[in-house]
Amino acid sequence: MSVSNPLPHDAARLHVTGTARYVDDIPTPRGCLYLAFGLSTVAAGRITALDLDAVRAAPGVVGVWEAADLPSDCDCSPSAHDEPLLSGNSIRYCGQPVFLVAATSHHTARRAARLARIEVQERDAVLNVEDALDTDSRFEDGPLVWERGDAGEAIDDAPHRVEGQIAIGGQEHFYLEGQCALALPQEDGDMLVHASTQHPTEIQHKVAHALGLPMHAVRVETRRMGGGFGGKESQGNALAVACAVVAAATGRPAKMRYDRDDDFMITGKRHDFRIEYSAGFDDDGRLRGVEFVHLVRCGWAQDLSLPVADRAMLHADNAYDLPAVRIESHRLKTNTQSATAFRGFGGPQGMLGIERVMDHVAHVLGRDPLEVRRVNYYPGVGGGLSAPRSAKPSPPEDISEPEKQGITPYGQPVEDFILHEMTERLARTSDYAARRAAVADWNDSHPVLKRGIALTPVKFGISFTLTHLNQAGALVHVYQDGSVAMNHGGTEMGQGLFQKVAQVAADRFGLPPEAIRITATDTAKVPNTSATAASSGSDLNGMAVRAACDTIRDRMAAYLATLHQSTADRVTFTDGQVDVAGRSMSFADAARLCYEGRVSLSSTGFYKTPKLSWDRKKGEGRPFFYFAYGAACTEVAIDTLTGEYRILRADILHDCGRSLNPAIDTGQIEGGYVQGAGWLTTEELVWDETGRLRTHAPSTYKIPACSDRPAVFNVALWDGENRENTIYRSKAVGEPPFMLGISAFLALSDAVAACGPGYPALNAPATTEEVLNAVGRARDGA
Ligand code: MTE
Ligand code: MOS
Repeated sequence: MSVSNPLPHDAARLHVTGTARYVDDIPTPRGCLYLAFGLSTVAAGRITALDLDAVRAAPGVVGVWEAADLPSDCDCSPSAHDEPLLSGNSIRYCGQPVFLVAATSHHTARRAARLARIEVQERDAVLNVEDALDTDSRFEDGPLVWERGDAGEAIDDAPHRVEGQIAIGGQEHFYLEGQCALALPQEDGDMLVHASTQHPTEIQHKVAHALGLPMHAVRVETRRMGGGFGGKESQGNALAVACAVVAAATGRPAKMRYDRDDDFMITGKRHDFRIEYSAGFDDDGRLRGVEFVHLVRCGWAQDLSLPVADRAMLHADNAYDLPAVRIESHRLKTNTQSATAFRGFGGPQGMLGIERVMDHVAHVLGRDPLEVRRVNYYPGVGGGLSAPRSAKPSPPEDISEPEKQGITPYGQPVEDFILHEMTERLARTSDYAARRAAVADWNDSHPVLKRGIALTPVKFGISFTLTHLNQAGALVHVYQDGSVAMNHGGTEMGQGLFQKVAQVAADRFGLPPEAIRITATDTAKVPNTSATAASSGSDLNGMAVRAACDTIRDRMAAYLATLHQSTADRVTFTDGQVDVAGRSMSFADAARLCYEGRVSLSSTGFYKTPKLSWDRKKGEGRPFFYFAYGAACTEVAIDTLTGEYRILRADILHDCGRSLNPAIDTGQIEGGYVQGAGWLTTEELVWDETGRLRTHAPSTYKIPACSDRPAVFNVALWDGENRENTIYRSKAVGEPPFMLGISAFLALSDAVAACGPGYPALNAPATTEEVLNAVGRARDGA
């Protein structure tokens, strides 16, 4: 069976030999133009003079466009229609595209773009959370508030109480392949676009809108991305639209690729947050009530900020049963890059809020934070398989049984809470108790180097919270030689989606995975697709491909059965053979026979996620089909003289349900953890007082290097299966492991706390400087 096999990524060989083709590698036809944006160097104001003469006169320049020269507003927004391709007179952030240059080479275009003279009458920029609150600069009329119970009263009545806040930095995606698009004009005004995007349908939509074409006149193809991480859900729109506009105007192919610095300056990043909290709890650390205020810096345009901020609220509980909770979320509009999707989509920020509360409560009580976490866990309901159900139907009065089941602040029951068992197993395999004691001994005898350890859980909701996005389509062809071509609406960004879905297709036909041809995502093959996001790529597309394959298989079985006076249920597809009532033939022979019998060997497939209902204003319903779980234990050492630190060891136990491909899933877990730890440790975005991003290259923005991964790194998969009927009972794995990185942050907090008496109140990212400052705070006391 192909599914569950730890096969390598389908393009692994191409990746490592440098022959995998990305958009920038596509051979371009003669006459291709190369584009660059001219960027604003101030954060807010009105353009009073724009002199582009020198740009136009520069050698190699073929055309220059200002906003007024565009065929329409060329909106690039994925949501609120508030992102014109070019600024026009109104400047909203430093780095905003003001004009567009087309030239005969990439470097010519970039050099020419620097020759503009832009005069701007500056106005006060709204740069940070304080500015935005002061000026009431926000999306939506006021904060969104979700409540369950009376948190204020519960906190007041509780024996103990803690208050605090945490600053949580943003994050640059740093996909290895920068944003890139190529537009090729076709006959009769049609446009073909190759784009490095997680969302080909949206590019199609935006290009069609920009050019005033129906969507059928635009085709978008995406073979793969060199990483997306959410940064190519909407941020690729501008390049594709720019290329299409130039291609339509000149009749020549047009390509645009951001240099790394431009990519940093122009595109949105993870939302930075400030979270204020107040919690009441008892002697065991059991929370009675908790209140959060989320201050979310969204940047200049709405983009995906509302659903991101919603998802932060939806993860404010993480793994904990909160008897009374109030969450207030402010979506603040600032003169900075428009913050966007990034792995976890707000979930990580929301989750860090409650994990910080757990850590703080444990510090106040002088208890092991893991104990405090466990007493607050949702009630458990069995070992990861379907929730145990009694054989006999329970009498009506017993319906109150769900007392035992946890319920989230937004009213979704937590039906398969497996973190009790997972935590127990990870605590055992990571030797948590003994190592915590060893860390304490170490800290008693070492004044300079301190150690810390933390074990933290993850519960992450799977599904798009915008319910209609939870659908997918597929197109499968069986050729007369028995080879199979598979296409679906998902995109490949390194996460292994294509390989996993190909294994599904292979399994349905009983073929080896090599028999399945993986083809580029193409809006002409499967229309109206959702972004490959919310970790739901394999859940959605796996099901759609399965449906398409089964349709073809059933047609083949029915025809072959009539040929051999048998019935379709007696036709089996295994090991590359088709068995018809005891007679065996190769799949290729079966395909040829069916073709000659005029059986259609091509089918679409469709899937929509069941059980979802969600009212985002009220914060009520079932936004998620199910939850994915995980837990990580990290140990660190810090140098209290310099603030420098190392991750010494990380142990992870993660739940992928019945994994479609354990090798690929393990890679997602390792990469997710390291990326999550990077977010909370070394990756620091710094804007200066004028709103200019000063960290815009690897020299100043530090993503984890290979040498930063934990020296000891043990990753194991939980061996349960999804209680919901997902593709082969697997679970989504793309984003959840990112939040395992929180354990690295809290291990640092633990190490700093050893310098106590005070609580470190560590902010993220915990850079060397931040750790050093926190050591000072802890030493100074409360
Ligand atoms: N893994 C790699 N290698 N590259 C990526 O860009 N993106 C992540 C995750 N894992 C990403 C990745 C994000 S943000 C998401 S939503 C999922 O993959 C998307 O793919 P999936 O739905 O197929 O898991
Ligand atoms: Mo992932 S942030 O949902 O693209």
